[in-house]
Amino acid sequence: MSDINYKELASKALKMRARSYTPYSHYCVGAAIATPDGKIYTGCNAENAAYSPGICAERNAIYKAVSEGDKEFVAIAIAGGREGHEPTEYCPPCGVCRQVIREFCKLDTKILLVKSEDDYQEYTLDQLLPQSFGPENL
Ligand code: THU
Repeated sequence: MSDINYKELASKALKMRARSYTPYSHYCVGAAIATPDGKIYTGCNAENAAYSPGICAERNAIYKAVSEGDKEFVAIAIAGGREGHEPTEYCPPCGVCRQVIREFCKLDTKILLVKSEDDYQEYTLDQLLPQSFGPENL
């Protein structure tokens, strides 16, 4: 799909922050990921009392899609910030999420770091994870 609606993707990532379960960090992240045929999957971060079982918003969205049969994505939007506040900064994906995005996305896949519907930074996966290791290395 050539004309991805970035504003819609940004808006869905922002809205998903309301679903975040963040009793420990109080930092809410939402993600929205688009498939080539225009479907959008969303995810939020969900923390855990034992800390490491928590999941980031991006991986939550990606694995939701995978579990529904979608394994190809053309763009992902990420919005993060303090609980109860609109984002004041761009939230870059953590290293683990970058690697999971690498598993399912082409290097030119767009990653949007969203502050608001009208304020987001655009990167490609290759920019955020250069010289990466992926499925075709095996
Ligand atoms: N978090 C995400 O959901 N995505 C990222 O890429 C960065 C971090 C979450 C994990 C944790 O629940 C909270 O933000 C603070 O690290």
